[in-house]
Amino acid sequence: MSYIPPFPPRPPEVYPALRLLRTARQNLLAIWPEPTFSKEVFGHTLLRRQILVCNSPETVRQVFVDDAENFERKSPQQRHALRPLIGDGLFISDGASWRERRRAVAPLTHVSRLPELAPAMTEAATERLSGWRVRAGQEIDVLAEMGEMTADVICRTIFGSEPGHAAAATVVRAFSEYQALIGQMDLLSLLGLPDFLPRLQGRRIRDCAARIHAVVSRLMDEILHGARRGEASLIRELAGNDAGGRALSVEAVRNEALVLFMAGHETTANTLAWAWFLLSQDAETEARLHAEVDQLEGRPATYADLPRLRFTRAVIEETLRLFPPVPIQAREARQGRVVAGRTVAAGAIVMLVPWLLHRHKLWWDQPDTFLPDRFMPGGSGVPNRYAYVPFSIGPRICTGAAFGLTETILCLATLAQGFQLRLRPGWPVMPTCRLTLRPGEKLPMRLEPRQPVARAVVAV
Ligand code: HEM
Repeated sequence: MSYIPPFPPRPPEVYPALRLLRTARQNLLAIWPEPTFSKEVFGHTLLRRQILVCNSPETVRQVFVDDAENFERKSPQQRHALRPLIGDGLFISDGASWRERRRAVAPLTHVSRLPELAPAMTEAATERLSGWRVRAGQEIDVLAEMGEMTADVICRTIFGSEPGHAAAATVVRAFSEYQALIGQMDLLSLLGLPDFLPRLQGRRIRDCAARIHAVVSRLMDEILHGARRGEASLIRELAGNDAGGRALSVEAVRNEALVLFMAGHETTANTLAWAWFLLSQDAETEARLHAEVDQLEGRPATYADLPRLRFTRAVIEETLRLFPPVPIQAREARQGRVVAGRTVAAGAIVMLVPWLLHRHKLWWDQPDTFLPDRFMPGGSGVPNRYAYVPFSIGPRICTGAAFGLTETILCLATLAQGFQLRLRPGWPVMPTCRLTLRPGEKLPMRLEPRQPVARAVVAV
């Protein structure tokens, strides 16, 4: 029996403006009417701003790849939302500044570096597994647990050593709070109010950002000037080199460290949380995953094991299809263009919405069903490379895609050897989105220890 995970009700047609804005503030996934899951392009004018959604491989390719320079600028909402946290970090910069930072940051987590970065993933997962053994039978908040583990991973790889659980937990909590607060700024930015006007919650947002800044600045200080001066770390490399011959300023390094922290921990945490949830609801898929990971015979999964974790990878790929951590990617048009016969004015917002594209009725078979087999050899696969874009596409594609995939596979394979997770009975799970897509505010699940599948019956 295939499993269809929950999704918000789809209205038959687009809500009137006020209801649309109210719904969007609660959950950006709840605004899309049923017909948008089969349209190839559509648009609206909302509060005088033109919005166009590229919902076909052709339009995604035109806007995000072929004409990327014209659409490289992030939307004003995204820039407003993230500026207090990451300043001029590459995630929200554009033009020459983005190019300079991208050149400096992208090589840090390039696929060629994974053999040296992956041990930190294995270590963080192994420690988490030991912690779970002590708490066997208890209920945990999987979302927070995965957030702390992936914050651990990013700290170890980017900052060169283990930051301590307290630091990781502080950052995870502050990020959660930050997300909840910035949801409330969107409306003002959409109305086109200028930056200098004080925002509701502006002070709480700044306080939250300050807590995150304090942790990152302390880590950087230790690395650049303190006791850990001699240790190798990616941040140290960044401080000494911008890949163009000029060193980045301390502030630029701090902002990029924050970008890596922000972009690199919550996305992977959400993916893992969703994967645990999906596995708990689909006994057959869970059993196949167990059969595969048990071939490691109780050993933590390492980089060298990746080729034999093919089904684990398919589970992660299918999780990213159904619950893309960045479900809406928006850009501002620099100059006017025509996209699929529609005139797009300068300043219009053009969107790629993986939430729609990944569940699109024209490109996917059983789009709402959890079917990891589609990603297995011989499966139906990705119908079109522009229709599966969990890491975006084009020049602004995620620099940590290979890192994130490797991390989620190794962590899931290590932890799933020791435990299966069971949802608190009656707990309502619903995908919600402010900045990233999560299974609600928390995900309470019980840690159930498990015995490995006997080798003789392994058949993946
Ligand atoms: C499952 C894990 C991940 C997913 C699904 C993901 C997804 C994405 C997406 C969709 C974007 C583009 C956002 C937009 O255009 O609005 C992006 C950008 C970015 N990601 Fe990731 N990401 C993941 C993990 C990571 C990791 C582990 C790192 C670093 C260690 C990272 C670093 C970045 C950076 C630096 C950018 C900005 C790139 C630019 O603007 O040029 N990501 N990511």
